Amino acid sequence: MERNESGAPPFLFGRRIVLGVTGGVAAYKAAELVRRLVKAGAQVDVVLTPGGAHFVTPTTFQALSGRPVWCDPWDERRANAMAHIDLTRGADLLLVAPCTADAMARFAQGQADDLLATLALARACPMAVAPAMNRQMWLHPATQRNRERLVADGVLVWGPAEGEQACGETGPGRMIEPEEIVARLEAFFAPKWFSGHAVLVTAGPTYEPLDPVRVLTNLSSGKMGYALAQAFAQAGAAVTLVSGPVSLPTPLGVTRVDVTTAEQMRAAVLERVPGHRIFASVAAVADYRPARVSPQKIKKGAERLTLELVRNPDILAEVAALPEPPWCIGFAAESENLDEYAERKRREKGLQLVVGNLVQEAMGRDENTVVLYDENGRIPLPTADKVQVAWGIVRHVAQRLGLIDTAVERGDL
Ligand code: C5P
Repeated sequence: MERNESGAPPFLFGRRIVLGVTGGVAAYKAAELVRRLVKAGAQVDVVLTPGGAHFVTPTTFQALSGRPVWCDPWDERRANAMAHIDLTRGADLLLVAPCTADAMARFAQGQADDLLATLALARACPMAVAPAMNRQMWLHPATQRNRERLVADGVLVWGPAEGEQACGETGPGRMIEPEEIVARLEAFFAPKWFSGHAVLVTAGPTYEPLDPVRVLTNLSSGKMGYALAQAFAQAGAAVTLVSGPVSLPTPLGVTRVDVTTAEQMRAAVLERVPGHRIFASVAAVADYRPARVSPQKIKKGAERLTLELVRNPDILAEVAALPEPPWCIGFAAESENLDEYAERKRREKGLQLVVGNLVQEAMGRDENTVVLYDENGRIPLPTADKVQVAWGIVRHVAQRLGLIDTAVERGDL
């Protein structure tokens, strides 16, 4: 798998994006967006409307994109003086962020009265808009009509988000954050190997209570499971994520179910697993829980305190032993003898795939070094950001399930 500077999967790498910036206060966030897109390896041509140029200067965007910025439909820098057609020729996407109510109205009407509107009309590439406006402007029937018109015309409308607005009001109309726009772009460009398939993922640690204020747990951050859930979702799957307590945002498009203990996780998984093609058990489920949970806080007293622990159910083994089990992916975090333990786990639990790693190289970190174990043997993946590792796993599973048309996809990732 190719790497790039951002550590993100390379779906934005080499993509040509024309970014229209219209006259809303959220234009300042477009600068951050350009920085993120360039870091992910995209080529960004910024087109500023006169309103957009009121908020942020062309110089800012030129510095961030490393490319000329376009404002004027009569610009003669192109040899044929046809910037209004040339810029989106060969582009992968025309993205307008922020997109004002006025810009939405003009796109919906098919007007061609400035460079951006002309590009929107003359383009052959897909188009997405991230609306940004006062909540009353957004809720106005005229804007809603324009939104419906744009959707009907095949334009992707991303957002807006709800929350505090620059005008001091609160409600729908904020532009979605640059981070979310990038996530949506990655999902837009990702190969849809898993569309039509449902994937169930567990992630994070479990908390096993001792008393009302204490738990037994482990150092799992949930990052690997969340990255895998996100990658499957971007690859088109309907993903349900059963998560232990972590402080991570829910990946875009993923349905999240929060649980605390191993027994709650087991119940949540067994209830949902029918209908899922794949079960990826990434959670670091506590193997043992206290035999008794004290209803009151345990007070300090004696010099020694002995805890009695009982075994927790093995959720993954139980799912793999169902009469009609999904395709099961287990994780093996070991501190030694990785090959032997991981392969044994695969056979004993009856799994299709085990992702093995050494705990000292994974826990709580952003990078991971994993080895895949399946019936064909061992496949080491290169050390990479957990997002990239997740894509390596997703690609392997897609290949194993025959979901990749290798003739078409060869060299895609
Ligand atoms: O046997 P071991 O705990 O090392 O296996 C790890 C794998 O089994 C992981 O995929 C983990 O999510 C899963 N597991 C589980 N329920 C447990 C313990 C582990 O599903 N009680």
